[in-house]
Amino acid sequence: MRTAICPGSFDPITLGHLNIIVRAAQIFDRVVVCVAANATKTSPMFTVEEKVEMVRRVTAPYPNVTVEVNRGLLAEFARQYEGSVLIKGLRAASDFDYEFQMDLINKRINPDLETMFLTADQRYTFLSSSIVREMARYGGELRGLVPEEIIGMIEAKANTQRG
Ligand code: PNS
Repeated sequence: MRTAICPGSFDPITLGHLNIIVRAAQIFDRVVVCVAANATKTSPMFTVEEKVEMVRRVTAPYPNVTVEVNRGLLAEFARQYEGSVLIKGLRAASDFDYEFQMDLINKRINPDLETMFLTADQRYTFLSSSIVREMARYGGELRGLVPEEIIGMIEAKANTQRG
Protein backbone atom coordinates (compact mmCIF):
# COMPACT_ATOMS: atom_id res chain seq x y z
CA MET A 1 0.00 0.00 0.00
CA ARG A 2 1.41 3.38 -1.03
CA THR A 3 0.93 6.10 1.56
CA ALA A 4 1.17 9.82 0.98
CA ILE A 5 1.88 12.02 3.99
CA CYS A 6 0.55 15.57 3.75
CA PRO A 7 2.25 17.52 6.55
CA GLY A 8 1.55 21.02 7.76
CA SER A 9 0.72 23.38 10.57
CA PHE A 10 -2.89 23.73 9.34
CA ASP A 11 -3.51 26.87 11.41
CA PRO A 12 -6.18 26.58 9.97
CA ILE A 13 -6.53 24.19 7.01
CA THR A 14 -7.38 26.15 3.83
CA LEU A 15 -9.06 25.21 0.55
CA GLY A 16 -5.54 25.14 -0.93
CA HIS A 17 -4.44 22.48 1.57
CA LEU A 18 -7.63 20.48 1.02
CA ASN A 19 -7.15 20.60 -2.76
CA ILE A 20 -3.66 19.08 -2.40
CA ILE A 21 -4.92 16.41 0.05
CA VAL A 22 -7.80 15.37 -2.23
CA ARG A 23 -5.55 15.20 -5.29
CA ALA A 24 -3.05 13.07 -3.33
CA ALA A 25 -5.92 10.81 -2.25
CA GLN A 26 -6.74 10.21 -5.92
CA ILE A 27 -3.17 9.15 -6.67
CA PHE A 28 -2.18 7.20 -3.54
CA ASP A 29 -3.87 4.29 -1.74
CA ARG A 30 -3.93 6.19 1.49
CA VAL A 31 -3.24 9.75 2.68
CA VAL A 32 -2.14 10.57 6.22
CA VAL A 33 -2.58 14.25 7.02
CA CYS A 34 0.13 15.02 9.55
CA VAL A 35 -0.66 17.94 11.84
CA ALA A 36 2.60 19.25 13.31
CA ALA A 37 2.20 19.91 17.04
CA ASN A 38 5.58 21.54 17.51
CA ALA A 39 5.69 23.67 14.42
CA THR A 40 8.09 26.55 14.95
CA LYS A 41 5.33 29.05 14.27
CA THR A 42 4.93 31.58 17.06
CA SER A 43 1.51 32.11 18.64
CA PRO A 44 -0.72 29.78 16.63
CA MET A 45 -4.39 30.76 16.44
CA PHE A 46 -5.66 27.21 17.09
CA THR A 47 -4.70 24.42 19.49
CA VAL A 48 -3.52 21.15 18.00
CA GLU A 49 -6.84 19.56 19.01
CA GLU A 50 -8.77 22.26 17.15
CA LYS A 51 -6.58 21.89 14.06
CA VAL A 52 -7.14 18.13 14.06
CA GLU A 53 -10.89 18.61 14.50
CA MET A 54 -11.01 20.96 11.50
CA VAL A 55 -8.91 18.66 9.31
CA ARG A 56 -11.07 15.65 10.32
CA ARG A 57 -14.27 17.51 9.51
CA VAL A 58 -13.22 18.59 6.03
CA THR A 59 -11.59 15.28 5.05
CA ALA A 60 -14.48 13.14 6.36
CA PRO A 61 -15.88 12.54 2.82
CA TYR A 62 -12.60 10.89 1.72
CA PRO A 63 -12.38 7.33 3.10
CA ASN A 64 -8.67 6.88 2.37
CA VAL A 65 -7.66 10.03 4.30
CA THR A 66 -6.75 9.88 7.99
CA VAL A 67 -5.38 12.51 10.36
CA GLU A 68 -2.48 12.14 12.80
CA VAL A 69 -0.56 14.47 15.09
CA ASN A 70 3.24 14.58 14.97
CA ARG A 71 5.20 15.97 17.89
CA GLY A 72 8.66 15.21 16.51
CA LEU A 73 10.65 15.25 13.31
CA LEU A 74 8.58 14.64 10.19
CA ALA A 75 11.19 12.33 8.66
CA GLU A 76 11.01 10.13 11.79
CA PHE A 77 7.19 10.18 11.77
CA ALA A 78 7.24 8.90 8.17
CA ARG A 79 9.19 5.75 9.11
CA GLN A 80 6.05 4.08 10.49
CA TYR A 81 4.48 4.13 7.00
CA GLU A 82 6.76 1.95 4.91
CA GLY A 83 7.51 3.36 1.47
CA SER A 84 5.58 6.52 2.19
CA VAL A 85 6.10 9.73 0.26
CA LEU A 86 5.80 13.30 1.52
CA ILE A 87 3.50 15.50 -0.52
CA LYS A 88 4.04 19.24 -0.58
CA GLY A 89 2.08 21.87 -2.47
CA LEU A 90 3.97 24.58 -4.35
CA ARG A 91 2.20 27.91 -4.88
CA ALA A 92 5.09 29.76 -6.45
CA ALA A 93 8.76 29.33 -7.28
CA SER A 94 9.56 31.01 -3.96
CA ASP A 95 8.02 28.05 -2.09
CA PHE A 96 10.47 25.75 -3.83
CA ASP A 97 13.63 27.13 -2.17
CA TYR A 98 12.31 26.34 1.30
CA GLU A 99 10.88 22.97 0.29
CA PHE A 100 14.15 21.99 -1.41
CA GLN A 101 15.98 22.71 1.86
CA MET A 102 13.37 20.70 3.81
CA ASP A 103 13.75 17.75 1.44
CA LEU A 104 17.54 17.76 1.92
CA ILE A 105 17.33 17.80 5.72
CA ASN A 106 14.58 15.17 5.71
CA LYS A 107 16.73 12.90 3.50
CA ARG A 108 19.63 13.39 5.90
CA ILE A 109 17.41 12.07 8.70
CA ASN A 110 15.68 9.39 6.64
CA PRO A 111 17.43 8.72 3.30
CA ASP A 112 14.57 6.54 2.02
CA LEU A 113 12.03 9.34 2.29
CA GLU A 114 11.05 10.98 -0.98
CA THR A 115 9.15 14.26 -1.34
CA MET A 116 6.84 14.87 -4.28
CA PHE A 117 5.43 18.25 -5.20
CA LEU A 118 1.99 19.14 -6.50
CA THR A 119 1.52 22.59 -7.97
CA ALA A 120 -1.24 24.57 -6.31
CA ASP A 121 -4.51 24.98 -8.15
CA GLN A 122 -4.41 28.47 -9.65
CA ARG A 123 -7.50 29.44 -7.61
CA TYR A 124 -5.42 29.10 -4.45
CA THR A 125 -1.95 30.39 -5.35
CA PHE A 126 -2.48 33.50 -3.20
CA LEU A 127 -3.88 31.58 -0.25
CA SER A 128 -2.18 30.76 3.05
CA SER A 129 -3.23 30.07 6.63
CA SER A 130 -1.80 33.46 7.65
CA ILE A 131 -4.07 35.23 5.11
CA VAL A 132 -7.03 33.35 6.60
CA ARG A 133 -6.04 34.29 10.16
CA GLU A 134 -5.70 37.94 9.17
CA MET A 135 -9.06 37.93 7.37
CA ALA A 136 -10.72 36.28 10.37
CA ARG A 137 -9.26 38.78 12.84
CA TYR A 138 -10.69 41.68 10.87
CA GLY A 139 -14.05 40.00 10.26
CA GLY A 140 -13.38 39.48 6.53
CA GLU A 141 -15.28 37.04 4.28
CA LEU A 142 -13.87 33.53 4.68
CA ARG A 143 -15.96 31.82 2.01
CA GLY A 144 -13.71 30.74 -0.86
CA LEU A 145 -10.68 30.60 1.46
CA VAL A 146 -11.53 27.71 3.78
CA PRO A 147 -14.06 24.84 3.62
CA GLU A 148 -17.58 25.97 4.60
CA GLU A 149 -17.75 23.41 7.44
CA ILE A 150 -15.09 25.20 9.49
CA ILE A 151 -15.99 28.85 8.89
CA GLY A 152 -18.06 28.95 12.09
CA MET A 153 -15.19 27.56 14.15
CA ILE A 154 -12.73 30.10 12.75
CA GLU A 155 -15.10 33.02 13.26
CA ALA A 156 -15.84 31.92 16.83
CA LYS A 157 -12.12 31.70 17.60
CA ALA A 158 -11.45 35.12 16.08
CA ASN A 159 -14.28 36.57 18.19
CA THR A 160 -12.88 35.14 21.43
CA GLN A 161 -9.40 36.43 20.57
CA ARG A 162 -10.78 39.90 19.84
CA GLY A 163 -12.10 39.76 23.36
O1 PNS B 1 2.32 24.31 7.07
P1 PNS B 1 3.78 24.53 7.32
O2 PNS B 1 3.98 25.39 8.53
O3 PNS B 1 4.52 25.00 6.12
O4 PNS B 1 4.36 23.08 7.69
C1 PNS B 1 5.72 22.91 8.02
C2 PNS B 1 5.89 21.54 8.65
C3 PNS B 1 5.02 21.45 9.86
C4 PNS B 1 5.52 20.49 7.65
C5 PNS B 1 7.37 21.37 9.06
O5 PNS B 1 7.75 22.47 9.81
C6 PNS B 1 7.57 20.11 9.89
O6 PNS B 1 7.38 19.02 9.44
N1 PNS B 1 8.02 20.26 11.12
C7 PNS B 1 8.32 19.17 12.01
C8 PNS B 1 9.79 19.25 12.46
C9 PNS B 1 10.72 18.83 11.33
O7 PNS B 1 10.75 17.68 10.93
N2 PNS B 1 11.49 19.79 10.77
C10 PNS B 1 12.39 19.54 9.64
C11 PNS B 1 13.78 19.22 10.11
S1 PNS B 1 14.55 20.63 10.86
